[in-house]
Amino acid sequence: MPEELLIRDYAPGDLPVCRALWAELTQWHRDLYDDQTIGGPDPGGYFDTYLATPGLRGPWVAELGGRVVGLTGLLPHWGECEIEPVVVSSGLRAQGIGTALVAHAVAQARAAGHTSVTVRPVARNAAAISFFVRQGFDMLGQIELSRDLREERPTRNGPHLTLHSLRLDY
Ligand SMILES: CC(C)(COP(=O)(O)OP(=O)(O)OC[C@H]1O[C@@H](n2cnc3c(N)ncnc32)[C@H](O)[C@@H]1OP(=O)(O)O)[C@@H](O)C(=O)NCCC(=O)NCCS
Repeated sequence: MPEELLIRDYAPGDLPVCRALWAELTQWHRDLYDDQTIGGPDPGGYFDTYLATPGLRGPWVAELGGRVVGLTGLLPHWGECEIEPVVVSSGLRAQGIGTALVAHAVAQARAAGHTSVTVRPVARNAAAISFFVRQGFDMLGQIELSRDLREERPTRNGPHLTLHSLRLDY
């Protein structure tokens, strides 16, 4: 982890950079799904909706050399809580910043008295799934299955997800 990294509370002055981070998160998903329409015409603007979520804890930002480079927060989720989002600016990934953000969110969830904390990466986000499993998110609570309702179903030859050694939620 970079020595000068600081995880701190979000402040109103962080709004433009947090919108930009949300846009980066959306871009990541657009590229994953090869669909540049995901998130609509103003993906960064969704951060404003997120900020207004009832029960939101945080958000918290990662500041490196005085510059905000990452974002996380905790959303209420069926009596427990969910870490959403976790995003690090694209040029600064794989340096430990995401790990520090997740550690902070987990500590906040624990301090708030929660006994578990959830993340919900999309199934295609294999990099994020590996990342979270390494951070201790190794219990599988739910699987969401969907069916394509288009008449002409596209052929799906994509990779199959290799499940990590996830424990079932017993
Ligand atoms: C997922 C994400 C938040 C992780 O943030 P990050 O800062 O890249 O994460 P870290 O650097 O802490 O860890 C990433 C990897 O880098 C490695 N790493 C950590 N510190 C490192 C260092 N100093 N040097 C080299 N590699 C390092 C870690 O081992 C880790 O490997 P793993 O993913 O196999 O566990 C970030 O990649 C991101 O924003 N992705 C796009 C958005 C996204 O998918 N968000 C999650 C949606 S639910």
